[in-house]
Amino acid sequence: MTSLSSLTQLPQTHIFRKGDVFVLFGELFGRGYASGLVNEARQAGMEIIGITVGRRDENNALRPLNDEELAAAEAGLGGTIINVPLMAGFDLDAPAGEPTPTELLGALTLKTWTEDKLDWAHIEKCRQIGIQRFKDAVAQVMARLEGMIADGRNVYFAHTMAGGIPKAKVFLAIANRVYKGKGERFLSSQVLLDSDLGKLILQNFDEVSANSFQYLIEGSAALRARIEASGGQVRYSAYGYHGTEILIDGRYQWQTYTSYTQGKAKMRLEDIARDAWAQGIKATVYNCPEIRTNSSDIFVGVELPLISLLYALKKENGGAWAEAQWQACNALLADGHTVEEVLAKVDAFHGSEVMQGFRDFPAWPMPNSQALADLMIGTSDEIVQMHTDRKALITDLLSSLVLEATGPLMLRETSAPAGPVLWLNHDIIARQLNELHAGA
Ligand SMILES: NC(=O)c1ccc[n+]([C@@H]2O[C@H](COP(=O)([O-])OP(=O)(O)OC[C@H]3O[C@@H](n4cnc5c(N)ncnc54)[C@H](O)[C@@H]3O)[C@@H](O)[C@H]2O)c1
Repeated sequence: MTSLSSLTQLPQTHIFRKGDVFVLFGELFGRGYASGLVNEARQAGMEIIGITVGRRDENNALRPLNDEELAAAEAGLGGTIINVPLMAGFDLDAPAGEPTPTELLGALTLKTWTEDKLDWAHIEKCRQIGIQRFKDAVAQVMARLEGMIADGRNVYFAHTMAGGIPKAKVFLAIANRVYKGKGERFLSSQVLLDSDLGKLILQNFDEVSANSFQYLIEGSAALRARIEASGGQVRYSAYGYHGTEILIDGRYQWQTYTSYTQGKAKMRLEDIARDAWAQGIKATVYNCPEIRTNSSDIFVGVELPLISLLYALKKENGGAWAEAQWQACNALLADGHTVEEVLAKVDAFHGSEVMQGFRDFPAWPMPNSQALADLMIGTSDEIVQMHTDRKALITDLLSSLVLEATGPLMLRETSAPAGPVLWLNHDIIARQLNELHAGA
């Protein structure tokens, strides 16, 4: 894979220290990628500031957190939360008295949705309203930050936002089939993307997962200028996804989850970082490995490449600690099953002709196929069934290891980033983990 710009060395620079400020641009969930970064920022002694996406009231109006929600969110983050709703996307925005895009989707039916048409002029009005609402909220957040960040501090903005699936009944049923359906329940992702419904969803993904990063960079221009003029540094990172190099047949090879319908938005996110970089702004998208989180659990099978991290831990000289991770994984399996058997299933999955056809970097993100869905979802189900408890999976343990490694990798690399788009593949994740746990 020649077009991947991968992080190949453990970053050594560390500009962030006590008194510097870490701003999390997205909410924090325990299993989410951001928790690795927040932990690392805390260890560095940084002050942690967060935001909220807000909540919806009974009429779907966006509101700030109430006192109880705010206290819980601040306790979870271990920092102050600026209580201005920063929900991205426009699925629930509309001119006063007119229907929102989600309400328009209410007219679609499971029988007719592939042919049903949407009113694009109206949707564009809703999109503009959503964008303006978000930009206004960013301006309010920045005004608050101005008063919270002193001259000369270094500031790290960590964007985590991704999503944008509208809460329309018809789509929830379709999503279940596109992302989880095999056999007769299979549904082609291309059919979805060709429909008006799919086109609307892609626009919303763009707003939530990509453009929100641009509005953050633009909205913080004045703050950035003041900090830089007073001797501080300002950095931005975002989480991307564009496949991952993992060990297949003993060598690191690029592979991807398919169908990643959010892929176009993630490429847009990369472009936003490149454009910012061209203007001298240090913004880096870290393309991260597949892990299981609140957001990714909808994609059944996305966790399969993660299991191969066990190979990387050994290959990158993990010694006794790597061996202990193999044992810990073994302990999660039901009697009669072994990690070796699970890995053999993953190897057969990657070795299949079906999967080899999807290891096509220039063609990314490809639509799914019946053969892929049957194989991937089938393999995922079989592996889950080999566990003692389906709520304690090998992929839970490995997910927590990956997010532990991404914390130091991202915070340190962002001190002196090598470029606007960097892949964190299994090799560097394993090396970072082995270094963190050396002697353990
Ligand atoms: N899980 C994976 O396998 C994986 C792989 C590579 C990259 N990522 C990326 O990592 C980032 C964090 O995701 P995660 O998987 O840790 O899950 P997560 O559920 O912990 O995080 C999702 C984030 O998106 C925010 N968000 C969701 N909808 C939003 C909206 N409408 N407006 C504003 N913010 C919204 C949430 O507040 C949260 O901060 C995302 O950018 C995701 O695409 C995840």
